[in-house]
Amino acid sequence: MVAAWHVTESGRVRRRLGPRLAAAFAGDEARAAAFDDRLERHLPHLLAALHELYGWRYDFFWHLEQILELAARAAATRPAELAALDAARAAAPTWFQDHRALGAVAYVDRFAGDLAGLRARLPYLRELGVTYLHLMPLFRSPPGENDGGYAVSDYRAVDPRLGSMAELSELACALRRAGIALVLDFVLNHTADDHPWAEAAKRGDADAQALYWMFDDRREPDRFQPYLRAIFPERGGDAFTWRPDVAGPQGGKWVWTTFYPFQWDLNYRNPEALAAIAGEMLFLANQGVEVLRLDAVPFLWKEPGTSCENRPQAHLVVEALNALAALAAPALLFKSEAIVHPDEVVRWIGVEKSRLSYHPLLMALLWEALATGETRLLADALERRHALPEGTAWVTYLRGHDDIGWGFADEDARRLGLDPVGHRAFLNAFYTGRRQPSFARGLPFQENPRTGDARVCGTLASLAGLEQALAAEDPWALDLALRRILVLHGVILTVGGLPLLYLGDEIAQLNDYGFRDDPAHAGDARWVHRPRFADARLATARADPASPEGRVWHGLMALLAARRRTPALGGTELRLVETGNPHLLAYRRRHGAARCLVLASFSPLPQRLPSAPLRLALDAARAVGWGGEGLDLAGDTVPLEPYAFHVLTPLPDAA
Ligand code: GLC
Repeated sequence: MVAAWHVTESGRVRRRLGPRLAAAFAGDEARAAAFDDRLERHLPHLLAALHELYGWRYDFFWHLEQILELAARAAATRPAELAALDAARAAAPTWFQDHRALGAVAYVDRFAGDLAGLRARLPYLRELGVTYLHLMPLFRSPPGENDGGYAVSDYRAVDPRLGSMAELSELACALRRAGIALVLDFVLNHTADDHPWAEAAKRGDADAQALYWMFDDRREPDRFQPYLRAIFPERGGDAFTWRPDVAGPQGGKWVWTTFYPFQWDLNYRNPEALAAIAGEMLFLANQGVEVLRLDAVPFLWKEPGTSCENRPQAHLVVEALNALAALAAPALLFKSEAIVHPDEVVRWIGVEKSRLSYHPLLMALLWEALATGETRLLADALERRHALPEGTAWVTYLRGHDDIGWGFADEDARRLGLDPVGHRAFLNAFYTGRRQPSFARGLPFQENPRTGDARVCGTLASLAGLEQALAAEDPWALDLALRRILVLHGVILTVGGLPLLYLGDEIAQLNDYGFRDDPAHAGDARWVHRPRFADARLATARADPASPEGRVWHGLMALLAARRRTPALGGTELRLVETGNPHLLAYRRRHGAARCLVLASFSPLPQRLPSAPLRLALDAARAVGWGGEGLDLAGDTVPLEPYAFHVLTPLPDAA
């Protein structure tokens, strides 16, 4: 929170430091003036966050000065094309809410081999209409197990198997010219245990050790541990790892490792850790990265006696980074990855924090609705938990590179008469096929014997029933599976926000069990849903629209094209429409003068729904669907096919 004194004090800091900061611009007066303008606007935020975090330190202002100099240097060296982007984004700051914006995510190697291969796939991305491309971690990381690159050895070096940093910036530029923003992960909770900071820490460099959470003995870890959630319970419940290779008086040190033992948590109680990570962030921004996915944000701050998740100070760390980006690289946006209780997820979202966030609740509840055939939890979430602050948006998705966790709030489930624990157990059993009948083929992930908790892995197509239907050679099941895939996509494309496709899902790729034979992946079931992109499937999809991949591909392409023609789907306004049918979901979207009504069925059986609420919601007696088919709402009911999906636009009444 910015208080009056932050504003006054910022003015003083600006006057005092101004000349020194201006020196970074080496005579470029226009840039120096633009920076000074931004200082006036954003320094109060930066100061408020940093002062709250570190104001108690005798050397607070020295750290503030270091951080501001970093920002000035980054602003001074920002390439001209990116400075132009800054101006363009300032004129249209909510570009990601546009109904023509579309996200896609892929591993560079699995999708295209390397960065050169990725560039060669640019025409394909344009064909899909992608405007936001998230490339999974591509930095140098330890050989062997590295958590899919989420253990970063160097934020300034690309994994040499994929290409170089120069190629990455060229790619960013080529993408931008094609209307596609480059999105990368910013893994700021931890570094790999072979990052130069970690290597210096191993050698006993006290400043480097202070960047991490390191302890000589178990006294401190034992104070924290009882309150911590096990993130990867299969590796044991302890968040700390004894490292004999870190110089310490006891012949080693305990290191805080929330995720894997080779991922060392950074210690943001130390302002030097914040300054160090800010330097890496601004470096990436100046390579042309437009959005940073802030990995694992809930874990950034540790406080004894708490779960060490979602602490207020962790929010301040993000606010400080956001203010720094606003100073030095204003086009840069954050997307938060907070896969936590829905009350906490939204707290990470804001113009001064992350403008974008995954929508894990919607994701999980779409699968929940498919499993149960009922939409009450889903509808309830859209009613109560979907609205966001102005200037921000959800990233809507069906699955990512991670597992699916059933992150609905216990209290929501109870309010709707469901037992949350039992319901999660049902969903896990359903999607792993342990409970029959089930259409899904998923694998359990990180089962926690203590809590009975688990999550689910699998590709969209395998979880939606395609793998099983193909194995059973059952045309009826096959048809239903394909319909499920399309209705799920229909919802994430129309619910408001930026939809994100996991590349490969558009050609209905199935689970890849080959990960079991790769020692670096065998211990992590998430690899089952990270298959290599299958060009052969794409070729089949194009050539044979009646093939399973062809139906998904052509169906999805039709949805994408129709969405681009529907301005009512821009913005974020959504109003739920009560249909009285528990298998259906209906909502009205409105943007400016345009409006439309979305209908989705989660039932494998045909349904009917009363027309009156539809007439009312659309304020029209006739409507036209995306397929161009007119729909007469004048009758009593409207028939819907299994897993139907419709977007209706009002037609003027016939004279
Ligand atoms: C995020 C990533 C996940 C990774 C973890 C640790 O949750 O999505 O894949 O294991 O962070 O970096």
